[in-house]
Amino acid sequence: MIEMKLISKRFGKINPLSIEEYIKFDGYKNLKKAFSMERTAIIEEVQKAYLRGRGGAGFPTAIKMMALAKETNKEKYILCNADEGEPGNFKDRYLMENDPHQVLEGMIIVAYATGGTKGIIYVRGEYQKSISLLKWSIDEAKKKGYLGNKILGSKFNFDIEVRSGAGSYVCGEEFSLIESIEGNPGRTRVKPPFPTQIGVFGKPTLINNVETFSTIPTILEISGAEFAKIGTPTSTGTKLISLSGNVKNKGVFEIPFGVPIRDVIYKLGKGIEKDRKLKMVQLGGACGPIIPEYMLDMIIDFERFEEFESKTGAGAIIVIDERFDLFDILLKIVQFFQHESCGKCTPCREGHIQLANLIKKFVERKATMEDIVSLESLARVIHQTSLCGLGQTSPTAIISSLRYFRDDYIDCVEHSYKG
Ligand SMILES: Cc1cc2nc3c(=O)[nH]c(=O)nc-3n(C[C@H](O)[C@H](O)[C@H](O)COP(=O)(O)O)c2cc1C
Ligand code: SF4
Repeated sequence: MIEMKLISKRFGKINPLSIEEYIKFDGYKNLKKAFSMERTAIIEEVQKAYLRGRGGAGFPTAIKMMALAKETNKEKYILCNADEGEPGNFKDRYLMENDPHQVLEGMIIVAYATGGTKGIIYVRGEYQKSISLLKWSIDEAKKKGYLGNKILGSKFNFDIEVRSGAGSYVCGEEFSLIESIEGNPGRTRVKPPFPTQIGVFGKPTLINNVETFSTIPTILEISGAEFAKIGTPTSTGTKLISLSGNVKNKGVFEIPFGVPIRDVIYKLGKGIEKDRKLKMVQLGGACGPIIPEYMLDMIIDFERFEEFESKTGAGAIIVIDERFDLFDILLKIVQFFQHESCGKCTPCREGHIQLANLIKKFVERKATMEDIVSLESLARVIHQTSLCGLGQTSPTAIISSLRYFRDDYIDCVEHSYKG
């Protein structure tokens, strides 16, 4: 089975503005179920499901929930990361625009299980439609008693507010996001302490991605054990894929983990536009690896991504056809990260400027063999010594292209010598 609609099952079938339609289609049913369970039993279900974060790093969600649950502070934050600044990713927007109550229901269940008192959804500033829809849905949920004081007649109080970012990519990184919410420039902090210990406004905070929260009601509905049977043993459940670039059928598709990339491109994406030849595919977004056609039988799971020294499992697949030059693409990627670097650490701040200068030599066909060596060594230094995930993952495209598109580099240097 290539497509499996668990968390996208309501897409296009309900009016996202209508809480009644959400309720009719099993909505808030799992919140009621959660209220009938022990709080620890909810976390156990998430643990049995082996749910891993859908925002990129793939960290086990139950471990974060346990860490927050054991904090004794009276105020605890549940933070939903809807920054989605990674080029090529748009699945969180689909979730917020097609099924906003599902995100809210997931957050409320997690808050109930962990003792969370206040929720914040941090939405990318450009996503005005998502912001309006979420605000509207929060008001509707309050009117029906799913949010606010004494939720569903219980003693549990929980509210959610929406905050918007100002267009910075690095604000999707968890500590930069916390700084941004506190009104500071979006710059990371050194860990530990982790956000579950000291997070927003100094309070314990659990941060999860939109898709991660959206998956929680389904886990309660089908049980953690059943959820864990979907996908592969270590990458369980389904994943939303943002498919873009030169494919005929672009969009968001929900697949069980373990589906080959080729099936996503040729069956869901219906192949390459105008039946051109495929040149390369970038996985995960701008910070992910670039792979050639012969690797498309690779399956989609967390482990495969980790082999690329990249932890970018947010689920983007960007298809690039034969008309595009590898070095033009790499230059755009490097310039993006140069622009988005917060400047806090030297390898990232200075390194991207130098990377861009080197790549330009390849674009202009003026590169030498020494430039290949310098590029590789600089990319590795940035990857290994940067302070946060931006610099640690931004060179992945270059490192992977040096491995899989070596001939392009050699051809380029030969062309440069010939003048
Ligand atoms: C530069 C950078 C940008 C990130 N952007 C996002 C983002 O837009 N959305 C997101 O959910 N996670 C993003 N992350 C990952 C978060 O730091 C964090 O791991 C995630 O929100 C945790 O949620 P999850 O466990 O549900 O995946 C980013 C990380 C880095 C280093
Ligand atoms: S890696 Fe880049 S974005 Fe991250 S702290 Fe360093 S300069 Fe800032």
